[in-house]
Amino acid sequence: MDFITNIDDMRDYSRKARGEGRTIGLVPTMGYLHDGHLSLARAAREECDIVVMSIFVNPAQFGPGEDLDKYPRDMERDRRLAAEEGVDVIFAPSAEEMYPGGYATYVEVSGALTETFCGGSRPRHFRGVATVVAKLLNIVAPDKSYFGQKDAQQALVIKRMAGDLNMPGEIRIVPIVREPDGLALSSRNTYLSEDERRQAPGIFRSLKRAEELASAGELSAARIKEEIRKILRQGRDIRIDYIEIVDADTLEPVETVKGNTLVAIAAFVGKTRLIDNVVISS
Ligand code: PAF
Repeated sequence: MDFITNIDDMRDYSRKARGEGRTIGLVPTMGYLHDGHLSLARAAREECDIVVMSIFVNPAQFGPGEDLDKYPRDMERDRRLAAEEGVDVIFAPSAEEMYPGGYATYVEVSGALTETFCGGSRPRHFRGVATVVAKLLNIVAPDKSYFGQKDAQQALVIKRMAGDLNMPGEIRIVPIVREPDGLALSSRNTYLSEDERRQAPGIFRSLKRAEELASAGELSAARIKEEIRKILRQGRDIRIDYIEIVDADTLEPVETVKGNTLVAIAAFVGKTRLIDNVVISS
């Protein structure tokens, strides 16, 4: 497995691979890999000749006072896990390489897609995500790139950006990977104390309940939200950031479940903010 930290070297690598007629799959990550990331790598491995995984904790998507400094990092472990998964190249630029002095250009997806949900509680977050993903797509020029459904809003923002800016290559969204008790895999799960870890699956339980209610014919968003709230309140250290029931493509709020509807939750478990979602249909 190759390990590249320099943008020009990454470009050369991609250019050579394309010249040899090989397809490239890009898996953008912020490292501290878990099985969710590895499922993206597996999808890329199945569909592309070369798998490039980027590992870059992107300062532009963290707000002041967020967890940029304490975001978990372990490059040695990441290298081992990526190699075991058949990743061909890790691209791990420094912050200076990606945002050198004088850096001035940002990509902003406007409207409901970025202003609601996580955009409301994390202003500028999606500007940072869209900017770094645009840069990665320009540098690596993949045929396909892979993102997780866990970050449902991020997936929609990236799809919209790539579509609006006519970026070549396909954006692929891969299903959420969960622990046996339902907790969605996330690098931030490592912040949870034992007690918080026991409470955290309440988030998934509440989403399952939403699914059950909808399939039993309860289509009122307000009533489904109330049921979710009841379950989340059972967790002593769970504090709700948002519960949203929205159109799965536009993120416009809905009053009744209709077609593909996204039920998305962000909640603090202790100090750790976790997100999760399910798509339900009427
Ligand atoms: O989902 C993530 O880990 C990040 O937001 C991404 C897409 C790698 C951009 O930094």
